[in-house]
Amino acid sequence: MSSIYVTGGKPLFGALRVQGAKNSALPILSAAVLAEGVSVIRNCPKLTDTEAALRILREVGCRVWQDEDALYVDSSGPIRPEIPSRLMREMRSSVIFLGPLLARCGEARMSAPGGCEIGARPIDLHLSALRSLGAEIDERGGNLDCRAARLRSCRIDLPFPSVGATENALLAACLGDGETVITNAAREPELRDLEAFLNSAGASVSGAGSAVIRVQGKTSLHGAVHRIMPDRIAAATWLAACAAAGGDVRLYDTEWRDYRPVLRSLREMGCDLHTGENLVRIRSLGRLKAASPIVTRPYPGFPTDAQPPLMAAALTAEGTTAFQETIFESRFRHIPELRRMGADIRTEGRTAVVWGVPKLYGAEMCAPDLRGGAALIIAALGAEGESRICGVHHLDRGYTAIEKSLAELGAETVRKEDRDG
Ligand code: UD1
Repeated sequence: MSSIYVTGGKPLFGALRVQGAKNSALPILSAAVLAEGVSVIRNCPKLTDTEAALRILREVGCRVWQDEDALYVDSSGPIRPEIPSRLMREMRSSVIFLGPLLARCGEARMSAPGGCEIGARPIDLHLSALRSLGAEIDERGGNLDCRAARLRSCRIDLPFPSVGATENALLAACLGDGETVITNAAREPELRDLEAFLNSAGASVSGAGSAVIRVQGKTSLHGAVHRIMPDRIAAATWLAACAAAGGDVRLYDTEWRDYRPVLRSLREMGCDLHTGENLVRIRSLGRLKAASPIVTRPYPGFPTDAQPPLMAAALTAEGTTAFQETIFESRFRHIPELRRMGADIRTEGRTAVVWGVPKLYGAEMCAPDLRGGAALIIAALGAEGESRICGVHHLDRGYTAIEKSLAELGAETVRKEDRDG
C-alpha cells in the first residue's frame, strides 16, 4: 500500500497533456470483443481499470498486446462468454462486457456487480434493455446467465438516460436483426466516441451523443483503428487543482466543449479561462469566490464525476457554495476527510453547503473513492503544510500517476510506500 504526500501552498505553473478518457476506453475495449479481428486502440490511458478490462479480454479468449503507440486486441479466435467473479469484482463496470459477449456468442455468464463506494449502482436498466433485444436473463444467486440465439431489433425507451445501459444496449444491437432505436439515451460525449469506434468496425450507428440512437444490425463487425477521446474529468481535475492552488496552467489534448458547466463554475469562482482548439488555459490569482449552486445532472448538465474536485476548490472560496448530487446517493464520502483539513461543510441528504474558510491545514486523509480521492489531493494542494492521502489504489483506477502529473506543474506531490502496511 502507498500514500501520496502533498506539501501545499505551491501554485501550479506549466502545461499538461490530458490523458485518454477512462469512461470511453472501457466501453471501447468491450466493443473490441464484437469486432472480429485486430483492433488498434490509441491513447488508451494506463489505469488499473483499463488493466482489469484487458484481463477480461484475455480471459474470454482475445489476444492483447501493446507497444509504445497503441494497444492491440485480436478477437478473431473463439470467444468464451464467461467472466469469472474474481475479475468482475476488480471493476464494477465490467458489466459493460455483457452486451458484446451476448451479441457475439449468443450467451454470456458473469456474476452481477455489487454496489461500490459511491452507491448501489443497480443494473436493472441494462438488463431490461437487453431483454427488449430478445435476451433471456436468469439472475439467480447473484449470477447473470444470459441467452439469445439471435438479438432482434426493437425500440428501447430508457426510463433514465443511464450511460452504462445505453452502452450495453448499443453494443448488443450492433449484431441484432434490423434497426434498433434507443430513446432517452445518455448523451455523454463518450457515447460519440463509442459510435465512432463501432462505425469504423463496420457497424451502422447514428445519433450517439443525442437522446435518440439508431443502430442497423450487422451480421459481423471487423477490427478497427481508433484513438480514444481526451478525458473530460481528468481535465476538470487539473483545472480544479489550479483553481485551488493558484497559478497558470495550460491543458492540451482536451475538448473544452465537453465540460462547459465545469468551466462556467470555475469562471464564476473568479478563474480566468481561455479556450482554444484542443486547449484550455486557466489562471487562478487571488482568493476564489463562491459559485452559484452546482447540481449534478446527466450530460449536458454538471458531471457527477467533477463534483468532488470542484467542491475541493470551493473550500477556501469567499462565501457559500451549494452542491446537490442527483446521480449517486453516496457521493459525499470525501466530506468527512475534507473536514480534517478545517473545511466547513454542512450536509443534508444529497445537498452539501460549503462555507468558505480563509485557510486549510494539511492533514492525514484516506481516499474514499476515485473522484473523492482527487478532491483530497486538490484540497491538500491549497492547504498549509503537509498532507498524507492513503487509499491511493482508488486514484490509480482513473488517473495515470496523479502525483507525477501534478509534480510536472510544480506541485510537491510524492508517492511513498507505507511502512505500517
Ligand atoms: C455514471 C455517470 C457518467 C460517468 C460514470 C462514471 C451520469 C448520468 N452517469 O455513469 O457520466 O461517466 O458514472 O463515473 O452522470 N441506474 C439504475 N439502473 C441501472 C443503471 C443505472 O437505476 O440499470 C441509476 C444509478 O443508480 C444512478 C444513475 O442511474 O443513480 C446513473 O447511472 P449510470 O449513468 O448508469 O451510471 P454509469 O454508467 O456508471
